[in-house]
Amino acid sequence: MSLLDDAVNRRRTFAIISHPDAGKTTLTEKLLLFGGAIQAAGAVKARGEQRRARSDWMKVERERGISVASSVMTYDFKDRTFNLLDTPGHEDFSEDTYRTLTAVDSAVMVIDAAKGIEEQTRKLFEVCRLRDVPIVTFINKMDREARDPFELLDEIEQTLALDVCPASWPIGMGRNFLGCYDLFHDKLVLMDRADRAHVSDTVAVCEGLEDPQIDSLLPDWAHEGLREQVEMARGLCPAFDLESYREGHLTPVFFGSAINNFGVRELLEGLASLAPSPRAQPSKDREIQPCEKKVSGFIFKIQANMDPKHRDRIAFLRLCSGHFKRGMKLKHVRSGKLVNMHNPVLFLAQDRELAEEAFPGDIIGVPNHGNLRIGDALTEGEEIHFTGIPSFAPELMQRARPEDPMRAKHLGRALQQLAEEGAARVFKPLMEANWIVGVVGALQFDVLADRIRTEYGIPVHFESTALYTARWVTAEDSHELKKFTDSNQAALAEDHDADPVFLARNAWHLDRAVEDFPNIKFHKTKEQVF
Ligand code: G4P
Repeated sequence: MSLLDDAVNRRRTFAIISHPDAGKTTLTEKLLLFGGAIQAAGAVKARGEQRRARSDWMKVERERGISVASSVMTYDFKDRTFNLLDTPGHEDFSEDTYRTLTAVDSAVMVIDAAKGIEEQTRKLFEVCRLRDVPIVTFINKMDREARDPFELLDEIEQTLALDVCPASWPIGMGRNFLGCYDLFHDKLVLMDRADRAHVSDTVAVCEGLEDPQIDSLLPDWAHEGLREQVEMARGLCPAFDLESYREGHLTPVFFGSAINNFGVRELLEGLASLAPSPRAQPSKDREIQPCEKKVSGFIFKIQANMDPKHRDRIAFLRLCSGHFKRGMKLKHVRSGKLVNMHNPVLFLAQDRELAEEAFPGDIIGVPNHGNLRIGDALTEGEEIHFTGIPSFAPELMQRARPEDPMRAKHLGRALQQLAEEGAARVFKPLMEANWIVGVVGALQFDVLADRIRTEYGIPVHFESTALYTARWVTAEDSHELKKFTDSNQAALAEDHDADPVFLARNAWHLDRAVEDFPNIKFHKTKEQVF
């Protein structure tokens, strides 16, 4: 096997999707702990209260140096190299969170056992579904009062239209949570609450449900219930099917408690054996296979620097094929120019100084001055136009107004650039002079106002609007589209590429338009092809 084939086979690039507070940070930390990437818990970043107290978002911005570093976390486990891509949540929630999911090959969905599927998990799941990203589920916080496991499985199946297959079965919950029965390896794994900060070897005590040891190890209520429930679960749920999981139709479900390190090893082992290696990436012309010799990749995220004097950016490149080496010159397909990769930020190595190479599935940070955009391809020469890196319809929209009305044009240019960079959606209503800015996380308005002020020198206000959402509109027949735009002038705008967008005032307004114009397609995402 060649070096490239071997590296591709080893790689597992994934993200964690969850609702705030379900335990993503805790689980991330524990995955790194098990992977040996950190030595003790508490090293990743502020959790829970600590983070909420950090309400001053400027602090978050100042810490960008750290957040770039923790954007991709790499660790090894069982002959696999994992790249865990951070999906910013809480106040950092933005379109980047969605876009990160276009750069992974699989995802772990973390669910709070007391809460089940929550809003943000569902939204992120929908983004995964766009590309049928395979999902492993981790039901966390079993050490607290939790909902009935059957009910939780049923909810996942019903609300997400996803087949579920329990990989482990919990024994008790809350104070009585004793551990899990591993359904994939038929063994009992008991929880050790002793030391949360370090990992010890899993206590696998017996083999098979019929093993009489189970009766002596577990109290009466537990062993009777366990056998009964496992039998029921096996009867009710489909058997695990690797293909179905890889196609995004079935999710194996692990139960555990991240804070107690419990279930994390099983989850990691599950990922190591089940999660797919880097996928083939679709493009307008052909599918790019990871083991192709020539290097290629696409930009899925751009992080602006904090220094207002420099418009420095770090563009995050997901490698799709080839063996990348530092110092390579790659072609920026959209401009035709060569980009010298002499200074890439390589997230792969523990020791950044020594990182000289990277492989498909890895992420490279490319410093640049704003010339790289979301969706751009970098290749060793071929004109590749990657697909599957869409823009997402904003969920919050505000009107941008410069403090000095004379600077409206400058503001327009700044917004255009920010939209090209992917920092926000920007719409110019046909019947209005001001720009409408759309984001998916409320704090992004503050981030944008600050960037426009510091980077472009334009003090700007964001004002609330009565707008509900935006949809890109298309039609097969251009006359139909014209008919629609003519009769909806007041609700129409253009995005930064001058593509038409319908701005809905409320859900009813949108439904009405969809009903009245059956030949118009209303898109929640816009596919970008550069
Ligand atoms: P997030 O990144 O998804 O937002 O969640 P995070 O890991 O920050 O966890 C949210 C809260 O849930 C934290 O508590 C964390 O300690 C707790 N938690 C995570 N996993 C478990 C678990 O398995 N069991 C229990 N009982 N709690 C868990 P906090 O009080 O908000 O913060 P902290 O003071 O504990 O750091």
